[in-house]
Amino acid sequence: MDHLISIKHLSKDEILDIVQLADKIEKNPSEYADAMKGKIMANLFFEPSTRTRLSFESAFLRMGGQILGFSDPAASSSKKGESISDTIRMASAYSDVIVMRHFLEGSGVVASKVASVPLISGGTGIQEHPTQALLDVFTIWKEFGRLDNLTVGLVGDLRYGRTIPSLLYALSKFENNRVFLYSPNQLRVRMSILSDIDGKLSYEVGEKLPDDLKEFDVLYVTRVQKERFPDEQMYERLKDFYVINPSVLETAREDMIVMHPLPRITEISYDVDELPQARYFQQAKNGVWARMAILYRMVR
Ligand code: NCD
Repeated sequence: MDHLISIKHLSKDEILDIVQLADKIEKNPSEYADAMKGKIMANLFFEPSTRTRLSFESAFLRMGGQILGFSDPAASSSKKGESISDTIRMASAYSDVIVMRHFLEGSGVVASKVASVPLISGGTGIQEHPTQALLDVFTIWKEFGRLDNLTVGLVGDLRYGRTIPSLLYALSKFENNRVFLYSPNQLRVRMSILSDIDGKLSYEVGEKLPDDLKEFDVLYVTRVQKERFPDEQMYERLKDFYVINPSVLETAREDMIVMHPLPRITEISYDVDELPQARYFQQAKNGVWARMAILYRMVR
């Protein structure tokens, strides 16, 4: 792996390798305490972030590396009009690996063309969020011991949520997975993504959650992406379309897991946090192990 900007570029074996390495690291982190000694990671965040930035930082620091970067583009020269490629050229000179989150689709490709060190996307517009998908499948694998023969419901803003395409691409690499895509009609998964997974992943599209959730292994809930809406009124109309609360989950199996990339707003009520199915905080924590594994494989 030279750069990581799309899950599409990873094979099933590469995904499994990251998952198994993340597991190994979680079980024995001290073995990796010096793996990034003397290395520098540049974190370039052109969009807000809590988990992605902090867990990448935590991952790199836990392996003995050092960090530079910015979390507010207004404090960087992009504010003066500097291009993505010039910023990346400079960050390549100052670091051994770059993590970039950017609001523009295509920015990952542009950046990877000029980066002379490994470039990792921490989220690219509405396009993809590859490291999130890797921590998501790590979470699923830890729970079920497999990444095939799974029934996964994806719920919420499937149009603008970038974690969705990446997770769909990841699940499509394995056998016999079925996904059910629940969103308001206005927020369906984009056609281009559906054509990418066509024939590789069995999917059904719907608006109403089924009354019975028994067959689901995973319910993956997402936030309605306020900042991507062209029309604020439409956001107001759709923001509470799904609210997952204990009564919605009544028919779920005890071993089903509720996931969410976070931040959650109103789409999962706080009383779900206490239920045995809630796995979103654990999922976020898994992000550190998954990102340590990704960095370990990419920065040597
Ligand atoms: C996601 C993102 O930025 O796409 N957050 C994250 O990285 N965990 C999801 C979101 O913002 O809704």
